[in-house]
Amino acid sequence: MKNVWVINGPNLNMLGVREPGIYGSETLETINQRLVKIAEQLEMNVQFFQSNHEGEIIDRIHEAFHKADGIVINPGAFTHYSYAIRDALSTVKLPAVEVHLSNIHQRESFRHHSVTAPVVMGQIAGFGADGYELGLRALQKHFESVSKER
Ligand code: DQA
Repeated sequence: MKNVWVINGPNLNMLGVREPGIYGSETLETINQRLVKIAEQLEMNVQFFQSNHEGEIIDRIHEAFHKADGIVINPGAFTHYSYAIRDALSTVKLPAVEVHLSNIHQRESFRHHSVTAPVVMGQIAGFGADGYELGLRALQKHFESVSKER
């Protein structure tokens, strides 16, 4: 069983009440409950972490180095300017997928740029909460292809 850590950044604890027209009305807890079921089907273990603090997210990424096989991360607004989170991701070199509920490329120009995207496998944006599921599936495909190569 692969261990996948799902990491959410600032303000994502407020899903459900936060700008529902953009982010939907589902809470992070409900999204995570659904991901547990999907992970079971994919034969993965998922663990969830959310923080509004950059350093805590970095600590969690470092911890993943020893404990996780892959990361699904929505860094929230840190996506656009946290070189420290980017460096943490490139330090641990775990397969990682960046997820955004909204299509950041359709929104304000400061959201168009992601400093983290260049150090992850890929970015999923604009599919709402389904993006997390797509992230898990992308990692599963990756794990499968790596195990076939061996
Ligand atoms: C977000 C997009 C970011 O620009 C924003 O700051 C967020 C959420 C998304 O999931 O669409 O906090 O990452």
